[in-house]
Amino acid sequence: MSKIINGDNLTLGTCYYPEHWPKTMWREDLERMKKTGIEVIRIAEFAWSKIEPEEGVFTYEFFDEFLDLTDEVGMKVIFCTPTATPPAWLTEKYPEVLNARMDGVLLRHGARRHYNYNSPVYQELSARITGKSASHYAKRDCIIGWQLDNEINCEVDVFYSESDTVAFRRFLKEKYGTIDALNEAWGTAFWNQTYTDWKEVYVPRTTISDSTNPHEVLDYTRFVSASARRFAKMQSDIIRRYLKPGDFITTNGLFVNLDNHAMRRESLDFITYDSYPNFAYCLDMYSDNPKNLRDRKWSRNLTETRSVSPVFGIMEQQSGANGWNTRMEAPTPRPGQITLWTMQSIAHGADYISYFRWRTCTMGTEIYWHGILDYSSRENRRIREVHDVYEKLQGMQELAGARYEAKVGVLKDYDNIWDAQLDVWHQRVDEASQKALFEAAQRTHTPLDFVYLTETTTAEDLTGYSLLFYPHMTIVTERQAELLKQYVAAGGTLVIGCRSGYKNSTGQCVMDTLPGLLSELTGTDIPEYSFIAPDAGTVTVDWDGTTIEASVFADLLEPLGDAKLEGTYTSDYYSGSGALVCNSYGKGKAYYYGSAWNEMSAEIFLQKLGAANPYRDIVTVPEECEIAVRSKNGVRYLFVLNYEKHPVEITLHRKGTDLYTGNEIEGSQTLDGYGTMVIRL
Ligand code: GAL
Repeated sequence: MSKIINGDNLTLGTCYYPEHWPKTMWREDLERMKKTGIEVIRIAEFAWSKIEPEEGVFTYEFFDEFLDLTDEVGMKVIFCTPTATPPAWLTEKYPEVLNARMDGVLLRHGARRHYNYNSPVYQELSARITGKSASHYAKRDCIIGWQLDNEINCEVDVFYSESDTVAFRRFLKEKYGTIDALNEAWGTAFWNQTYTDWKEVYVPRTTISDSTNPHEVLDYTRFVSASARRFAKMQSDIIRRYLKPGDFITTNGLFVNLDNHAMRRESLDFITYDSYPNFAYCLDMYSDNPKNLRDRKWSRNLTETRSVSPVFGIMEQQSGANGWNTRMEAPTPRPGQITLWTMQSIAHGADYISYFRWRTCTMGTEIYWHGILDYSSRENRRIREVHDVYEKLQGMQELAGARYEAKVGVLKDYDNIWDAQLDVWHQRVDEASQKALFEAAQRTHTPLDFVYLTETTTAEDLTGYSLLFYPHMTIVTERQAELLKQYVAAGGTLVIGCRSGYKNSTGQCVMDTLPGLLSELTGTDIPEYSFIAPDAGTVTVDWDGTTIEASVFADLLEPLGDAKLEGTYTSDYYSGSGALVCNSYGKGKAYYYGSAWNEMSAEIFLQKLGAANPYRDIVTVPEECEIAVRSKNGVRYLFVLNYEKHPVEITLHRKGTDLYTGNEIEGSQTLDGYGTMVIRL
């Protein structure tokens, strides 16, 4: 059984860099961590040269000496493969391992993640260092698991080296067989792009105004994902040969151009996430606008993480101010926020929380990325707060392994996400709706999951949800349409938004009446559609007497067969046209809504469809608090998280046990600014 994600324990860890500190500090650091409540450290993700200082010369002494100490002190270790930072000797001798910009300029040594996944030399040298590290270190008692690389596809998620072009051609040949089939799929008849030989095909290159063929880019994105997955699997397969029983393989973070769900299935026991709720780019988190969810927005990323692994770990949890010397700046967590953000992670399904990093670094690009300790290592309030979190966790251990409860889901799939990256029409509707649905769910205290339609998803995976949205399902395959029909036929309620069903899996538009493969299920026909023109003002919809505001786009709808028109546009030239169709299908209902969502319309959908605030009989909390429920063996654990500086009142309508104190509580309770509560119901 895994030592951290095991259904029995909530565990704290930290990220440690023995190569940054004099050896004389190691023991004191490890002992101090233990006293603080830290039981696990992650090490070695950027330390290739400590193991292979010269090509083919392997030295294990450095980490052996360190691991002897961790064994002695009783500290558990997550060891990493070091492939995110190839050594200088390697890139100097084999420049073909480097990634390139689109214009061909190589990305040089000096930062990180400057390699490409497809260089045969890099694959071979990465396989070798992985094998050497795993065969030497994996047997050690203190090691409990492995992290592959570091943040796969972070910082750079596009690859334009020569090896990538060679591998892309291979990928396309396997997929299409003939160059004619590729021409067909990429619609190369347009603008005379027809290829006559595979050697004319490249990864996307610099073109006028970035107007690269969108079908090519969709395949290229699939290719980048496949390349990253293959690289991860290569490492994972090697480590598995040496893994002790119960030890695990993971990697950290969720990044774009990567099918994280497939990577998890193929290579990882579970995913870990890197959680920085006031990340330096999110300075809108200091906005006074009450509509800005600020650090609470991070719950959206945690919801993504939970869709990959229902119970997961946080490999890097923010514990200090953040910034690089070259870019980014964000303040120190206020007193209480380390606890708040830790509980936010746990509320969403994390059973392991590892703080980034033990001590603030004194050198390099990340000299302003603060850890638990400051440069001097003196005692500070952050280490006291981490210790306090540890004490709180001691009362909460029973909830380890509990699953987040949500009856509402937002469906997604990678092809649609990737196609949207180059499609400004789609981005406009999708960004609006994703934000609106998430924020409306947060404000109405309606727990929400993201549910990915992957090649392994079955109708049973969907039946636990009473309400599913697929806001804008542009590309629809026969298999997906069938899955959705099964879900609705079995009693589910499905809501589809505008701009759905109009592309096939090449990303080309279907020559069909819309919404294409979704017409039968939704009982909808769309004879006309348009962006809402800037001079149209507020476009309203009457839904059985409730007025909602259409956003961004208007599909004008007509019901088919027995389907019913429930909503009608009431302004501009759309007035009188259908805006919302409801179709009874088997035991369930499918809705087609002709627009994108804003927060108000999203809230009305949640309310009218009976999904909003499912725990209202249990607890009343103000809008500024998030609630989450995890459950295990029929027992529910309620998290209440106050993201505001000021105290708030909540009311518990039944008896519960406050897990921080062990006290029975009921009725009105005060939650401090940034305060949290975890209550066994
Ligand atoms: C993470 C990364 C760490 C460190 C941290 C702060 O994304 O995994 O290595 O760079 O951010 O920048």
